[in-house]
Order: sequence, then C-alpha cells, then structure tokens
Amino acid sequence: MKKYLLSVWMLLACLLGSCAHTKNGKADAAGGTIVPAGVWNDVDGTYINAHGGGVLYYEGKYYWFGEHRPDEGFSTKVGVNCYSSDDLCHWKYEGVALAVSDKAGDDIEVGCIMERPKVIYNARTKKFVMWFHLELKGKGYEAARAALAVSDTPAGPYRYVGSGRVNPGIYPENMTDEERATEWNMDEYKEWWTPRWREAVNKGLFVKRDLAGGQMSRDMTLFVDDDGKAYHIYSSEENLTLQIAELTDDYQGHTGRYIRIFPGGHNEAPAIFKHDGLYWMITSGCTGWDPNEARMFSATSIWGPWTQHPSPMVGPDAEKTFGGQSTFVLPVGEGQYIFMADVWKPKSLMYSAYIWLPIRFNEAGMPVIEWKNRWNLQF
Ligand code: GAL
Repeated sequence: MKKYLLSVWMLLACLLGSCAHTKNGKADAAGGTIVPAGVWNDVDGTYINAHGGGVLYYEGKYYWFGEHRPDEGFSTKVGVNCYSSDDLCHWKYEGVALAVSDKAGDDIEVGCIMERPKVIYNARTKKFVMWFHLELKGKGYEAARAALAVSDTPAGPYRYVGSGRVNPGIYPENMTDEERATEWNMDEYKEWWTPRWREAVNKGLFVKRDLAGGQMSRDMTLFVDDDGKAYHIYSSEENLTLQIAELTDDYQGHTGRYIRIFPGGHNEAPAIFKHDGLYWMITSGCTGWDPNEARMFSATSIWGPWTQHPSPMVGPDAEKTFGGQSTFVLPVGEGQYIFMADVWKPKSLMYSAYIWLPIRFNEAGMPVIEWKNRWNLQF
C-alpha cells in the first residue's frame, strides 16, 4: 500500500475544523468530527451517495467510489459515484465515474445492479482500474459477475471493459485431486444445509458445477499488496465460500491462481488490510440488508491458511456490527486504519448511512473496532 503523505496531525486539525459530515441532515454542532451512522453531506450540502464503497489514495487526494443508489427501488439507475477529498473530511462530488448505459442489452444498461465498486491504481500502465459486482438487468442476482472498467484519471469517467464469472475452466489451488475428480449429481443436493450437502459444499460442489463458466462473484473487494500484486476477494459458490484470486500485472484480468476459503462459511462484504505483515479480513454473514455479526480472519500469507477470530466489534449493538455491514478498510497513516461499513436502509437505499470507525490493536495485537458516537483521528 502506498505511503500516505497526509499526516495524522494534519488530518486531526482538519477534523477539528469545519467538516462536511452532518448527523441526520443537520449540521454537526461539534463540527469536524466523524459521526458514524449519521447522514453525511458533500461540500455542496448534498447527501453523499456512495454505498458499498472503497477509497483510493492517489497523489495527495482521497477518492471515494461507491454505488449510487436511488431513493426508491433497487436497481442501478445512475452508476458508480466518485467524491474526492484532501482530508477525508470535505468531500467534493466528482460526478459519475462509471455511468450505466441506455442501450438495451448492454451489460450495464439502466436497471442492472452495480455493487461494491473498488478502484486501484496500476503504476505500470498508469491506469485506474475499477472492479465491481454486476448483475444483469431483469435477472435478479443470478449472473454473479465481476465487471471491469478502466480510466486514465482517478475520478474518471471510466470506460466499461467487460464482465464475467471468474477463472473459467480452472480449479482453485487448494482443491485436492480427489475433490477435482469427484462428479456430483446436482439433483441430489437440492436441499440445502443437510449434513450431506454441507460435506459436498466443503468438497467443492459449486466449484465443480460452475467450473466451465467460471466462479460466481458477488460481494467483493480488491487488495494491493506491498509487492504491487493485486487480489480480487469475492463471495462465490452461491455466497457460501470466499475466493481469493490473483489479478494480472495490469490488474485487468485474473491470472488463474486462486483459492477458496471457509467453504460453507457464508461470508459476504469482505474488507481486507495488512498490518505488521499480517493480513486481516473482516466480513459479514449473509442476511441481505439486515445487519449481522461481523467475522474476522487473519493469515500470514494471502494464500492462507486463514484463521477465524471473534468479531472485533465492541460496544452497543456490537453483535450486529452496530447496524452496519463492512465494505472497506482504509489505511490512513502509519499503522492506522479506518473501518468502513454501510447501514442499509432498504426502503430508500440512497439514504443508507455510513459507519467509519478507527481500528486499534489490543495487547495481543488483535484489531478492535469500538463504537464511538463521534471521533477524530486521535485514537
Ligand atoms: C447484501 C450484500 C449487498 C447486496 C444485498 C442485496 O447481503 O452484502 O451488497 O448485495 O445483499 O440484498
């Protein structure tokens, strides 16, 4: 991850100054503090509409990409929104980074579903690379595709490149020869959650089913490691199993190298960061728009083995992730990270709220995310 020029103290100064965040549409009386789960406005006083998002740091600026959600309804009418900020505090609306198409039959035609966009910068090609979860218009969540868009400038506009399932025809690295060779009769596994079905899922029932066409990819994130290699982490196999797939050097494709982790674990909303050489991942369970208890995992290599730990959330409603669902972890300085989550409001998704909280590490070196009504970066 890039080194951040912005010092925590500059950021603190900013956060103590006037800030665009407001709670419930009213100006925040204290001014300048981050108010998790409030309604946040941009510098023009317009509601920030960037859900399921992530933040890119590039040349002294932060770029927040997220789903534009309509005030009514479910599917995507606008596209992926982008906001920029020098200080994570005042957000300027940069416009629609990737717009839906009005051409019938296009992958990203109005009425498709674009979710959880993430952008990374490729230093070799000097391109900004966006991946997101795409569902095709009128097909519910059955397409389960990873989609790619590219731009020469951080805020875009991004050019849509294409979409598809992941790594068609290729087995995950950590699937045994025996598992690869097993032939499943899908008709025998129509009923979910039986012991037999669980065993089959563990052994790769859905990997096999989807092998030719590629693996399903729904909730997703991206991670760029210290060596510049990038990874796509996504809920696959009917949201039952997470997969981690290596991206090509230009970040615009998959190399074919991937693993599955926690088969049948029902993990969604992955957010990943690296601290002191350890990889940490925070996810949610699968309960749609309803919050559930966060999960946490760590590994010494991105390729695992991954170990599960208790949820890092502490405070009121911690067992429901404070009403939110993870979306991203943003490194902001040496050893400092912000946990980002969405509080979904399915009646009007546009007004889904944002939770940003600092991550601290306890004596055992485990991440802890404690609820705060308001906070600044002096954690
Ligand atoms: C959630 C998922 C969201 C969205 C939603 C649709 O579980 O994390 O990104 O897909 O389901 O119901």
